Amino acid sequence: MEGKVHVLDHPLLQHKLTILRNKDTGVKEFREIVSEIAMLECYEATRDLPLEEVRVETPIAPGTFKALSGKKLAIVPILRAGLGMVDGILNLIPSAKVGHIGLYRDPETHLPVEYYCKMPSDISERDVIILDPMLATGGSASAAITFIKGYGCRHIKLMNIIAAPEGIACIQKDHPDVDIYVAAVDEKLNEHAYIVPGLGDAGDRIFGTK
Ligand code: PRP
Ligand code: URA
Repeated sequence: MEGKVHVLDHPLLQHKLTILRNKDTGVKEFREIVSEIAMLECYEATRDLPLEEVRVETPIAPGTFKALSGKKLAIVPILRAGLGMVDGILNLIPSAKVGHIGLYRDPETHLPVEYYCKMPSDISERDVIILDPMLATGGSASAAITFIKGYGCRHIKLMNIIAAPEGIACIQKDHPDVDIYVAAVDEKLNEHAYIVPGLGDAGDRIFGTK
């Protein structure tokens, strides 16, 4: 069975994504909104976190209430653009550990090239959410998932902001156990493997490098 694609169509997400798409949105606002979108997506992607009963005394009376059962999480941004999503997630899950994986797409072949990797030492015990704003051909995300599985991780989710149908098909084929969380699925890729209409080059827009 292939992984589920969760298209998060909350009005706040859609509104913020439209601001990202606008070519006139400047680097400061772009960066802030990428982080906000990641926070809103995280709310949905963590909906299945297990709860346990805890005893607490309110100022009025003691009672039994729900609390997170302490499941260990790690987030792994794909450098560079995934870095823009980290703060938004940590706002909601401050105790998550952060691994990093550096991949760039070769401009000719569009294939991912790895240049950096540093994971938390206990990554194999953690549920992992991989972060990257763009899922285009899917090559980078698929390589990152393969890499993280190599550490023994078995519960992996992928969080993107915009996906192309080609990228979704790639992940569903290579990693049918991985669910995808995304704010929009766009029409197609162009001849340079950019998402159409998309938002342009996410890394350049987050870091102001173009
Ligand atoms: C972008 C994006 C993804 C990748 C998506 O990164 O952030 O990592 O391309 O493309 P794919 O699905 O076809 O692999 P890029 O390689 O431009 O690197 P950057 O984040 O350093 O700008
Ligand atoms: N990487 C980006 O940053 N944007 C795209 O549209 C495709 C890959």
